[in-house]
Amino acid sequence: PPVTATTTAWSSSKPPLLRFLHTCYADFLPEAAGAVADYIPELGKADPAHFGISLATLDGHVYEVGDTGVPFTIQSMSKPFVFALALDTLGAERVESVIGVEPSGDPFNSIRLNAENHPFNAMVNAGAIACSGLLHADKGDGAFDYIRQALGRFAGRELDVDEAVYASESATGDRNRAIGYLLRTNSVIIENVPAVLDVYFRQCSILVTARDTAVMAATLANRGINPLTEEQVVTPYAIARTLSVMTSSGMYDYAGEWIYRVGIPAKSGVGGGILAALPARLGLGSYSPKLDKHGNSVRGIKVCETLSAHYDLHIL
Ligand code: DON
Repeated sequence: PPVTATTTAWSSSKPPLLRFLHTCYADFLPEAAGAVADYIPELGKADPAHFGISLATLDGHVYEVGDTGVPFTIQSMSKPFVFALALDTLGAERVESVIGVEPSGDPFNSIRLNAENHPFNAMVNAGAIACSGLLHADKGDGAFDYIRQALGRFAGRELDVDEAVYASESATGDRNRAIGYLLRTNSVIIENVPAVLDVYFRQCSILVTARDTAVMAATLANRGINPLTEEQVVTPYAIARTLSVMTSSGMYDYAGEWIYRVGIPAKSGVGGGILAALPARLGLGSYSPKLDKHGNSVRGIKVCETLSAHYDLHIL
C-alpha cells in the first residue's frame, strides 16, 4: 500500500528527501516578497503565512512539510488537467482546431489571440475558457461535474468547490467574460457564453491542498496513472501533449525563464499553488499565496529552483 510520510518537526531520522524539503521550508519561510492576489476579492483573504510543500514519487510515497493540508483554490492549475481531459474526450483534432500550442509571451489574462483568432495555448485564460467551451458543448449542464470528477481522479479523492471564491470571481470576472465573447465572435465558442464562463469559474474554484497537487502532478509525471490509486486517469497521448504545453507556456510570460532556470514542466495558479511534473520521476505541489508580478507564487518558485538545482533535475 502507498506509504505517507507526514512530518511535523525536524528529526535526523528522516530520509534525505524529507530533510531537503524541511531545509527548503525553513530557508524560504522568512521570504517577504510578493502579494496575495486580490483582483478576485475572496482570494485576498488567504493567509500569507501559509506555506506547504509536498512531493509525490511514482512509487506512491508522499513527502510533506508545512501547511500541506490547507485547502486553497486550484485556479489556473486546473488548466492542464482540463486540457488533457478535452484531448481524450473530444479528440486532438477537435481541440487543436480551435486552440493553439504556441507560447503567447503575454500575461495569463491577455485578450490577444493568435493570427487565426484562436487562443495561443490552453494555459492562458483564453485557451482554458475555450477548453471549458468545448467540454460544455459536448457535456452540456454536466460539463462542470465531468471536470470536477476527472480532477478528483488525478488527486485520488473527491474534490469540492469553494463557493465563496466562485461567487467572488463570477461577480468580478468581466475580463474573462470579454474573452468569452471575443472567442464567440471567432467561432471558438459556439454557444452560451455565460454557461461556459460558469464552468470555467467553477473549475478555477475547486479546492485542493499542496498534497493533492503533488499527487496530481505525479499523475502527469506517471503517464496518466495516479501513483496512489493506480487508476489510468487520461491517456499517455494526452499527458505528453499537456506536459509539452506546460513546458512552453505553463508559467505565462515567465515560461522561458522558468524552463531555463528550473527545467521542469509546471503550472501555477493565483490561489498560490505551483505544481511541477518531472516525467517518470516525481510530482511537486507547493502552496504559498504571495505572488510575483506574473501571478506565480514567490516561495513556490524558490522551492522549484532549489529542488531542480539540488537534485540536478533540469530535463535538458
Ligand atoms: O481566470 C482567472 O483570472 C483565475 N480564475 C485564474 C488565473 C490564474 O490562476 C493565473 N495563474 N497564475
